[in-house]
Amino acid sequence: MKSICVIGSLNIDLVAAVERFPQPGETLTAAGYSTFFGGKGGNQAIALGKLGANVKMVGKVGDDIHGSDYIRNLRMNGVDTAGIRVEKGASTGTAMILVDPQGENQIVISPGANGHLTPSDIDEHWSHLIESDIFLFQLEIPIGTIAYAMKRLKQAGKTIVLDPAPASQLPDSLFKYIDYMTPNETEVKYYANRHHQYVLQLKEAANILLRKGVQTIVAKAGAEGAYLIRDADLQHIGAYPTDPVDTTGAGDCFNAGFAYALAMGRSVEEAVSLGNAVGALAIRQVGAQSAMPSIEEVDVFMKKHLLGSESDSYRQLGGA
Ligand code: RIB
Repeated sequence: MKSICVIGSLNIDLVAAVERFPQPGETLTAAGYSTFFGGKGGNQAIALGKLGANVKMVGKVGDDIHGSDYIRNLRMNGVDTAGIRVEKGASTGTAMILVDPQGENQIVISPGANGHLTPSDIDEHWSHLIESDIFLFQLEIPIGTIAYAMKRLKQAGKTIVLDPAPASQLPDSLFKYIDYMTPNETEVKYYANRHHQYVLQLKEAANILLRKGVQTIVAKAGAEGAYLIRDADLQHIGAYPTDPVDTTGAGDCFNAGFAYALAMGRSVEEAVSLGNAVGALAIRQVGAQSAMPSIEEVDVFMKKHLLGSESDSYRQLGGA
């Protein structure tokens, strides 16, 4: 099995369940709030660890109690933490999250230590991280650090997966480093749309990103599954049934499942299907990391909801 490295954010999520989202200027009362480990990078790394992948993480926490707790959490879930540093004088990244009864969320982030991950941290961890084959990025650490790491990793022949969330301005020079870009449909249009005055259709928007140099677009479509877009080809890969309680981290779990299957040498179609399954399972409890499944749970789930040949062939993955 190939090994995976996540370079990204580690947050503490403060989650409050609300009956509805507040209007501007309005105050609502929640029944209470809970604290969870989160951050797009940490979520992807933990989901991979729970699946049983060979995974390491590069990132930063603050020198507060949350930072040491988070490192322990990563280790307990099988993530190699040699690439995590404590940033003196900074607090661990924090996300304030509201979840409504449909499981939809609103999130405000304070980056804290995540904002201090620099190119020199990439240099410091280089000999350790370069042992990995597949690299996962998101956009909650400085873009300059992401661009620097991607350029070096591409030169070293590594596979790069970018989850371009939260939607942020990216330099055009970055797209050519990306093997797999996994935006949701809104993000596909956001990244393609910079020079367009009209609303683009998904395929049209994805083609603009392909022309910028991305190899493959995997557009996550929530309850509809995902679309795989390469060259002239748009392929729909169906979703699994689920009962969403909290969709926070669904995209991160999709990416983890996707990368796990790639690491197992499976096809891109199978990887998307596994991403859909891991995402569907992970949203059944409050908290991004609460319901992340093991590969055995995923295997049982996929067998129960066979969606055709791609899930059928995945059965061999589960026991591996
Ligand atoms: O993708 C979900 C994550 O986004 C949350 O865990 C929160 O920390 C924000 O970073």
